[in-house]
Amino acid sequence: MRAAAPVFHDEQSGSWHVFRYDDVQRVLSEHATFSSRMGGDAPSGSGQLFASSLITADPPRHRQLRSLVTQAFTPKAVDALAPRISALANELVDGMVARGGSADLIQDLAYPLPVIVISELMGIPAQDRERFKHWSDTIVSQTRTGPGSGSQDTTTSEMVEYFLALIDQRRSRPGEDLISSLLSAEIEGQKLSVPELLGFCALLLVAGNETTTNLIGNAVLCLSESPGTLDRLLKEPALLPQTLEEVLRFRSPVQSMYRVSVAETEVGGERIPAGAPIVAWIGSANRDERQFERAAEFDVDRSPNRHVAFGHGIHFCLGAPLARLEARIALEALLARLPGLSVASGAHLERMESTIVYGLKAVPI
Ligand code: HEM
Repeated sequence: MRAAAPVFHDEQSGSWHVFRYDDVQRVLSEHATFSSRMGGDAPSGSGQLFASSLITADPPRHRQLRSLVTQAFTPKAVDALAPRISALANELVDGMVARGGSADLIQDLAYPLPVIVISELMGIPAQDRERFKHWSDTIVSQTRTGPGSGSQDTTTSEMVEYFLALIDQRRSRPGEDLISSLLSAEIEGQKLSVPELLGFCALLLVAGNETTTNLIGNAVLCLSESPGTLDRLLKEPALLPQTLEEVLRFRSPVQSMYRVSVAETEVGGERIPAGAPIVAWIGSANRDERQFERAAEFDVDRSPNRHVAFGHGIHFCLGAPLARLEARIALEALLARLPGLSVASGAHLERMESTIVYGLKAVPI
């Protein structure tokens, strides 16, 4: 598509699809032309939750909302979580080793680790984690299949009810968690509204989980396909951060993001009318030969590696330092305890059915 139809209009859905690196960067970052607000009619289901959230806000509201949570996600604040993340990762890998080293990487490590970390940050009691995980799954499946199923509506109302009770509890007994700090935060003397608080909870729940799970799973898949890189990493663990950057480029956990054109505009020589839904293909941008030499090759020595896996511009992923840290610690624990790490031979690897997230349903190792 990058060569044949770099800006493609899907007549049936009305959406415009953008595939080249420069165009994707522009659509993601030119917020005055490409809005992040949710298009169309009032969304149903969990869409209602995101309608008042950071990821669907444009300036000036976006800047105000983002300023409330940046503190919790700065590299320094996130680094302070490293000992706890290490303890969790090692505990999970211990479980895998105890099973004789043959395990499902997703179910046993890549999935629980980010859920536990984000639940702890938000102050979700440990006994509620399973429910939390279930909601996260159902909402992500909505982003795959589009709004509307009855079970998703039930999930949304259960989750809203749960968060409302938690918000009430934290209002009367504040703790050290993110929900308590959002409750006390003010923008120009105004507290966040309840829909805004719910929007934050839902966004952190969804944005922080499946994406990081897939980064860890995709990293193991890439290493399994590149035994030379795995050998180098075992001898030189300092290569891990740049290896993960290459995984983010080569197998981007988030493949696409949406925008809506605010006014008539032009992208790659195509006229796009006002109010048109636009899909910016991050996964394609990260494989664009115009930006990356030998883009189809997995090369951990690639430098510079200006991938857009975490987006570009004002909506750049807030959780990027946390995702990088979790993935690094998970991989360190795996390499230390299971140095012969590889995907089980003959395993049938099934990709998740999604055009937004890229990852495997299970990774037997
Ligand atoms: C935004 C990817 C992990 C929280 C984004 C965006 C991308 C992205 C592409 C840009 C959205 C846009 O332009 O509309 C990823 C990937 C991750 C990851 C690939 C893991 C490998 C996380 C984690 C958290 C998080 C761990 C939090 C715990 C957010 C938030 C936003 C965001 C709150 C919205 C920022 C804004 O609108 O200003 N992420 N993300 N993400 N991400 Fe992540």
